[in-house]
Amino acid sequence: MCGIVGILGKSSVAPQLVDALKRLEYRGYDSAGVATIHQGHLGRRRAAGKLRNLETLLGENPLSGNIGIGHTRWATHGVPNETNAHPHQAGNVAAVHNGIIENFRELRDELTAKGHTFESETDTETVVHLIQSELNNGNTPIDAVSAILGRLEGAFSLAIIFGGEEDLMIGARRGSPLAIGHGEGEMFLGSDAFALAPFTDEITYLEEGDWVVLSRSSITIFNENNEQVDRSSTMAQASAYVVEKGNYKHFMEKEMHEQPEVIQHTLAHYVDFASGKIRFKEKLPFDFADLNRIAMSACGTAYYAGVVAKYWFEKLARIPVEIDVASEFRYREMPMEKGGLALFISQSGETADTLACLRYCRAQGQHIASIVNVTESTIARESDAIFPTLAGPEIGVASTKAFTCQLSVLLALAIMAGRARGTITEQEEQSYTQALSELPKFIRQALKGSDDIAALAHDLSKVKHVLYLGRGTNFPLAMEGALKLKEISYIHAEGYAAGELKHGPIALIDETMPVVVIAPDDPSYEKTVSNMQEVAARDGKIILITDQSGADKNALEDCQTIVMPTVPDIIAPIVFALPVQLLAYHTANLMGTDVDQPRNLAKSVTVE
Ligand code: F6R
Repeated sequence: MCGIVGILGKSSVAPQLVDALKRLEYRGYDSAGVATIHQGHLGRRRAAGKLRNLETLLGENPLSGNIGIGHTRWATHGVPNETNAHPHQAGNVAAVHNGIIENFRELRDELTAKGHTFESETDTETVVHLIQSELNNGNTPIDAVSAILGRLEGAFSLAIIFGGEEDLMIGARRGSPLAIGHGEGEMFLGSDAFALAPFTDEITYLEEGDWVVLSRSSITIFNENNEQVDRSSTMAQASAYVVEKGNYKHFMEKEMHEQPEVIQHTLAHYVDFASGKIRFKEKLPFDFADLNRIAMSACGTAYYAGVVAKYWFEKLARIPVEIDVASEFRYREMPMEKGGLALFISQSGETADTLACLRYCRAQGQHIASIVNVTESTIARESDAIFPTLAGPEIGVASTKAFTCQLSVLLALAIMAGRARGTITEQEEQSYTQALSELPKFIRQALKGSDDIAALAHDLSKVKHVLYLGRGTNFPLAMEGALKLKEISYIHAEGYAAGELKHGPIALIDETMPVVVIAPDDPSYEKTVSNMQEVAARDGKIILITDQSGADKNALEDCQTIVMPTVPDIIAPIVFALPVQLLAYHTANLMGTDVDQPRNLAKSVTVE
């Protein structure tokens, strides 16, 4: 999604703006731009496509100025071209925006009637014209912004600068995050602390509805009622992380290989391996023993983590779990008993659909808990209990290490809930934590199969459609496998419950349709084998992901097999996530797609 940066600096800011935008690239974008003020005048450079296009433009036609704003745009209103790229400008006002101004048509009509001329198709351009129209009425920049914010409907974070004002930047936040970076005689604005990490660690997050007036030496924050407010600063962890690919070709590849370490790091937060018990240092504002039900919601890969967890919570803790795709949850109007638990899963902690569910559940009197990778995120800050995944920044748009860390945390929580409810014995708890302690080792073994999987990917890279099948916890893995493949290779893929094959999708099977079957030798293995027979009988090509005993039992001749380490059933979904990720990765790599920033996708989806 769009990324914002603003710098009130000591020297020429254009190169710093571009550096900060590079740290926002991972969010996904299709055009970029910067604006600065030099000798009182606003100047802009914007380019469609990757940041290197903007850099080339700045190389040919540099921008001076010690104050500026920059933007990476993920198109919502209007195609990704130079005219629609941010910053937008009207007269003396330039702004960058993340979010959607929902009432932009009415505002645009009103402004057009007053004589304003629009150059782009974007919703954002109405903001700069609205502010300029207030300036035309004789208002100061601060009064102008204060006057218009209440007129904007929808979600936004904004950074605004004004020709003639070289020590003034205004930021505003409603719905989309915005962080202030404190410098020595410098000030910064950014979509996240990560973008600002090269400049400062000291960060203040604006609260919902806040807006801020910045100079190089002052920060003045107002709430949505225009009352001046204090917001504390924190020291962000973001700068500790190096965002380089090292010897890997892609961030996704690097992040898949980081999984043993980050899972170990994450588990150390939840498991006391010495005693074999789950422990969580913070006191929880709810008791698992009192719950009648857990309502979970999330999007995409995080949703599939939740679907796996439903099996775990129901088996280990005997708690019914409702799991919904966040964008649909609100349409169900699910009745919720007060005091229930609503659990949200989000890598970024900024996903607008998930956040909207969280707020709905808050209004329904639920305890709000979240599993997030970014603990300073909006979802984290609006939660009563935060269960962090310690995966470090995930730069590849396709989620890998965040997913397996989410699964690890969810399994630890299911064990914790089982103990609280007396549905597992101490011995069982110890055997589960023992299995968790071995996870990093098994993941390391799974990664060793990468080259064999790359060999299988050759065939897959030539097809148009792929079906993924699985039973039990392998069913959400099948859906995750299909999602991973389609998002980075652009091959159409569907994940199905293996038992559903004969209820429809079997009509698709012929010799051109590979079927990836995820089936360790667990209690559902034999039934899945029957489904494989049904595929083979119709000339479908099977890739079976299984363990050694599953491979030994499989009598199908025309079947390619990926053999995984033999692992306890309870952790199998975490270990079996690896071949699913590797298969998608190697297929996309062979096809030469933009693996880390696949077309049309954004990492942090801050619009609904
Ligand atoms: C897929 C992927 C997305 C995200 C989804 C939710 O690889 O990364 O499906 O899982 O957009 O994002 P978060 O977890 O940030 O809420």
